[in-house]
Amino acid sequence: MASHLSPDKQIEALREDIRHHEHLYYVLDTPEISDAEYDARMNRLKALEAEHPELITPDSPTQRVGGKPRDGFVKTPHSRPMLSLDNAYNEAELRAWDQRVRDALPSTEQVRYVCELKLDGLSLALHYEPAPDGSAHLQRGLTRGDGTIGEDVTTNVRTIRSVPLRVSAAKLKAAGMPGSFEVRGEVVLPQAAFVKMNEQRVAQGLAPAVNPRNAAAGTIRTLEPNIVAQRRLDFYAYFLLHGASDPDKRGEFLLPTQSDGLEAMRTAGFRVNAHATTVDSIDQVLAFIAKAETLRNSLGYEIDGVVIKVDATAQQRRLGFTGKAPRWAIAYKFAARAGITQLERVLFQVGRTGKLTPVAALAPVFIGGTTVTRATLHNADEIGRLGVRIGDFVQVERGGDVIPKIISVVEDAKHPRGTEEIIFPTHCPRCKTLLVREEGEVDYRCVNASCPARLEEELRHFASRSVMNIEGLGEVMVAQLLGHTIAEQSDAELNAAEDVEAESEAAPTPKALVHSIADIYTLTKDQLLTLERVGEKSAESLLAQIENSKKAPLSRVLLGLGIRHVGERTAQALADEFGSIEDLIDASRPETEGEEDKLTRVNDIGPKVAASIRDFFSNPTNLALIKRLKEEAGLTMSAEKRARGTTLEGLTFVLTGTLPTLTREAAKEMIESAGGRVSGTVSKKTNYVVAGEEAGSKLDK
Ligand code: IVH
Repeated sequence: MASHLSPDKQIEALREDIRHHEHLYYVLDTPEISDAEYDARMNRLKALEAEHPELITPDSPTQRVGGKPRDGFVKTPHSRPMLSLDNAYNEAELRAWDQRVRDALPSTEQVRYVCELKLDGLSLALHYEPAPDGSAHLQRGLTRGDGTIGEDVTTNVRTIRSVPLRVSAAKLKAAGMPGSFEVRGEVVLPQAAFVKMNEQRVAQGLAPAVNPRNAAAGTIRTLEPNIVAQRRLDFYAYFLLHGASDPDKRGEFLLPTQSDGLEAMRTAGFRVNAHATTVDSIDQVLAFIAKAETLRNSLGYEIDGVVIKVDATAQQRRLGFTGKAPRWAIAYKFAARAGITQLERVLFQVGRTGKLTPVAALAPVFIGGTTVTRATLHNADEIGRLGVRIGDFVQVERGGDVIPKIISVVEDAKHPRGTEEIIFPTHCPRCKTLLVREEGEVDYRCVNASCPARLEEELRHFASRSVMNIEGLGEVMVAQLLGHTIAEQSDAELNAAEDVEAESEAAPTPKALVHSIADIYTLTKDQLLTLERVGEKSAESLLAQIENSKKAPLSRVLLGLGIRHVGERTAQALADEFGSIEDLIDASRPETEGEEDKLTRVNDIGPKVAASIRDFFSNPTNLALIKRLKEEAGLTMSAEKRARGTTLEGLTFVLTGTLPTLTREAAKEMIESAGGRVSGTVSKKTNYVVAGEEAGSKLDK
């Protein structure tokens, strides 16, 4: 690098040069310099920046690795919901979709489709905003979250080499893009990186991750950016949207067609999948699908289908949405893939309600880019239906997002039958209590309410988002509270999306801080600080969340107690009907002759559910737990509708017009649940007016 330049010019030139080579290497796969040469230039930049720390900017290629562990992820609303897609599984369903699209548009109009590979990863939204020099800088990266609110994973996203930290003014100009925009796309873990990562995990004595998608999902949500940086995630862009600078258009498509969007992103330096193709008939779509199926095994990353999108955004707008998915796009899903392997053993896993699930331990088999070692066997009936024995060769199927499943026993000269019968245990594999199989039921259960295996599942369920919503109390923390180290447990983290695990290891040890759900509420900061990777901040944040959960309404607490057959709806119905836990317990006392059953009077509750509720409230252990939760922990258990967030506290909103993806009622509920207020009229107190299409006088005002 020419040294007559001033340090800032030298640094900038070097950065530009490194960005160029990163783009060649990570996005285009056509490196022009050796790795050693790249490292040399990067080291030179690092050295210059070390000499002039005042010149370090966040968009410098040296700043990809954040290094600092994060406390948790901040929830941030999406510019526009990140929706999912409807699926088609065969030609007929795809043709029917094509017909619906054509029927909804004037017959004179030409319809073009963009066919894209359906990458099997997780979606991400990247927000870019203009910098004073006319370039655009990555501001934020959000996961899909619940579709409406994502998690801010910016620090991790910055480590992904195919995500530009900065798009120069010249590239923006060439792409015809403003400095403020949003790119949505898919994060994937290439198969080679997946294999390498699993080799390392096995070498460290950790369980391998189940598939690249789970590994990618676990990685992007890891609190340590260093780990993310090592894992070599990749990002493929597939949507280009308006950014925050234009609040009216924010989150809408930036260009008139999807194919223009792909081209612009490519020009701007994003990795756009090279196979995307624009076609003008459904027959051509089918031809693309056939080609994609043959490509599937040689791509180096996983795909689970093809996404077909109407190209013109004007047509997309007219087609609109149904519930959760756009009418203008569809996912064609490939058939599940299968492989043959041997059943080595059967493990028995104890769930939250004590249900025993047989899990097949298989000789590792590579199916569609993933090493499968476990498959569900559901229950004793399923084993009988399959007629499977230990030692048998079995046909295993793996769909996109389902747990691997044994579909049949293979019987031929090459695959001799096994000889050992699968014997269901008579006692709980964890606590040794005699298992019970109720009349008319398939499942065996451990009825010991304090079985350690059940406790682990109960804690996870109790803390989960849809129950008490104690965010810091995830799987890893639960295991730690039961006295386990992170290493013992980190395989579960990586395989979080799978329901099947090996026999869980997280039984309470002598070091356990928690022996019952109620113990969560007696945890102290000092206790939490004894755990691995828990600092002042995260301990305080967890305690605050636990404290906040005390305000959860009765329905959530009922759901959290894990009464069999009591799901969300039943819990709500019970809370609405009885209003307090005492009245519910009272109504659940054994029926006296001739008296009307107070439980089955409630909508949705039949004799089976009523019996289960009665059972639960007649158990002294359960009653003692409730007493502790109420008296010691101070759970309010009020019947009031819902616990409120605080993000929008003190803000007043007025809603007007037709919102594109939400009913006004749903929008009101979201605002209120985040602590905001919704008013019908614009006044001095109004902070925001949320205007949809055909907004009226309220917007003018
Ligand atoms: S479009 C509303 N394009 O598939 C539009 N999605 O089944 C939804 N995916 O959540 C996204 N490749 O995570 C789109 N080329 C592609 C995709 C793709 C993979 C994923 C994405 C989405 C899911 C929907």
